Amino acid sequence: MAIDPERVPRHVAIIMDGNGRWAGERNLPRRAGHEAGEHALFDTVEGALELGIRWLTVYAFSTENWRRPPSEVRFIMNFNRDLLRRRTGELDDRQVRIRFIGRHTRPIPASLRRLMADSEATTRHHRRMTLQIAFNYGGRAELVDAARALGRQVAAGELDPEKIDEAAVERNLYTADAPDVDLMIRTSGEQRLSNYLPWQAAYAELVFTPLYWPDFDRRALRDAVGEYQHRTRRFGTV
Ligand code: IPE
Ligand code: IPE
Ligand code: MG
Repeated sequence: MAIDPERVPRHVAIIMDGNGRWAGERNLPRRAGHEAGEHALFDTVEGALELGIRWLTVYAFSTENWRRPPSEVRFIMNFNRDLLRRRTGELDDRQVRIRFIGRHTRPIPASLRRLMADSEATTRHHRRMTLQIAFNYGGRAELVDAARALGRQVAAGELDPEKIDEAAVERNLYTADAPDVDLMIRTSGEQRLSNYLPWQAAYAELVFTPLYWPDFDRRALRDAVGEYQHRTRRFGTV
């Protein structure tokens, strides 16, 4: 599919879903699916850089995912720690700024939280692309946190409640300086948002692909961007 370089989405968000089913179809344990997802992520990052996408936000772990069996949760925490150790340098070389969005508190293990902060610090000066990793992220939790922050500003006399507008809410989101999501992709055939970026994706174009996340790659990203470029975005106008 031909891509118009002038109309590349500024911000792409991806719900990386289907790892467990990918593994199940191969009679492998679910964790093999999460492991296979690593290659998909890094190939997708490469594809995003090739296309000139400036913001990429991927859903790695939701506030609801703590409800999974403890053994799977533990695996995911260990795997992400290992992945950050092995691959932060590569993202740094590619001038990718890493940023985590979500509640970065317990029960995320302290050692993982430290690595998350380190990889953000190492790459904070890069601007070629920002890779936001949604980890212990929930869209409703984000709005609750923004409401609390605004409430504190009002209580401190720094903010007139009548002056709270959309820009004020936005300034208090985890994604404060990111542009709105233009294109939202979900893999694995599920057609729902699962509490992902409800504010930021209010006007996003949605693309659903039947591919399981481990089978996603830069070509699939290109296809999704091609589909995006065929959409007419109206933003309420005629
Ligand atoms: C997405 O794949 C990864 C996470 C949610 C951590 P899943 O683990 O949800 O895979 P399925 O949906 O069960 O196939
Ligand atoms: C959404 O996938 C969260 C991530 C991809 C990290 P889930 O697999 O958790 O979503 P549901 O439960 O199918 O809605
Ligand atoms: Mg899933």
